[in-house]
Amino acid sequence: MSTTNPHSDAQPDDAGTPAARARARRRSKQRRRLANVAGLMASLVLTGALYSVFAPAQAAVEPTESAAEAAGRELYIRSCITCHGENLDGVPNRGPSLIGVGAAAVYFQVHTGRMPLVRQEADAPDKPVVFSDEEIDQLMAYIQANGGGPTLPSGDLRGGDIAEGGELFRLNCASCHNFVGEGGALSSGKDAPSLEDANDLEIYTAMLTGPGNMPVFGDNQLTPEEKREIITYIQTVQEMADPGGAGVGRIGPVGEGLVIWVVGVGALLFGIFWMGSKA
Ligand code: HEC
Ligand code: HEC
Repeated sequence: MSTTNPHSDAQPDDAGTPAARARARRRSKQRRRLANVAGLMASLVLTGALYSVFAPAQAAVEPTESAAEAAGRELYIRSCITCHGENLDGVPNRGPSLIGVGAAAVYFQVHTGRMPLVRQEADAPDKPVVFSDEEIDQLMAYIQANGGGPTLPSGDLRGGDIAEGGELFRLNCASCHNFVGEGGALSSGKDAPSLEDANDLEIYTAMLTGPGNMPVFGDNQLTPEEKREIITYIQTVQEMADPGGAGVGRIGPVGEGLVIWVVGVGALLFGIFWMGSKA
């Protein structure tokens, strides 16, 4: 740049004269200008370098949607948005907010076939599951990422002391679900369903999220270990065959005695009358 400057070509040997001093000033001004340009270039290069270092890092920090979340968003828009709203914040008179319900509630509601709800009823009824496991995973990912809340438990869902589990079940669940989890009527036309068909994870997430009229049993009320014991108890009772014939609702000796009376004595009387009528 400076080599093409016509003013810097002539360098007459007249140092000390005012003209020479003026030239010297001009030269130092040019040097300053050059230094400024160099400084500018350097800072541009530095900025570029810094940008190239930090820009990708920033892109990684930005909340990008995973493939599962994106697929879950599609499913949500198709099947849930009319009742639960565009931002998971619910729709008045249609469906509650899903903010904070977490993947656990989504798993329970969708895996038991309760959601997507078709019409409003006292209880959200069990229906055949509409979504595949993969689709449920995607819905969970989307709603978890955008609403937060309790996630699925990890590890084994059974274990611990089954007797302890039975005790905890009688204390916390039997008032609604009956002593062996067969369900029972609640007030106002609602009822607590039988636990017969519930899988381990459904039982766990039911406790964790408290669907419908069921209370939430957070980890303060029932520790994960206690939840596992309850699950072990429920599933063992369900899987147990009824030794010695029909279970008669497992209502106890009085009920069983009554059945023996009605059926057994009834058969005896029938036999007696039949023989009498033949004679
Ligand atoms: C026709 C309206 C409707 C549709 C469609 C619907 N829901 Fe719901 N949803 C409800 C209602 C009403 C409740 C409250 C039910 C209850 O309290 O028993 C609910 C409850 C829930 C809950 C439990 C919230 C909580 O507080 O624990 C979840 C999770 C849920 N829905 C997820 C979904 C998902 C996922 C879809 C789509 C696959 C969906 N819902 C589609 C109406 C709907
Ligand atoms: C106050 C009554 C009440 C208590 C106490 C209660 N539940 Fe429930 N439970 C319900 C109701 C009501 C439903 C149905 C909710 C719905 O459909 O939205 C339910 C549903 C369930 C389901 C889903 C069953 C299915 O497959 O449809 C499971 C599992 C369950 N409860 C387990 C438990 C366990 C375990 C406990 C004890 C830790 C418990 N509940 C305590 C009322 C209760």
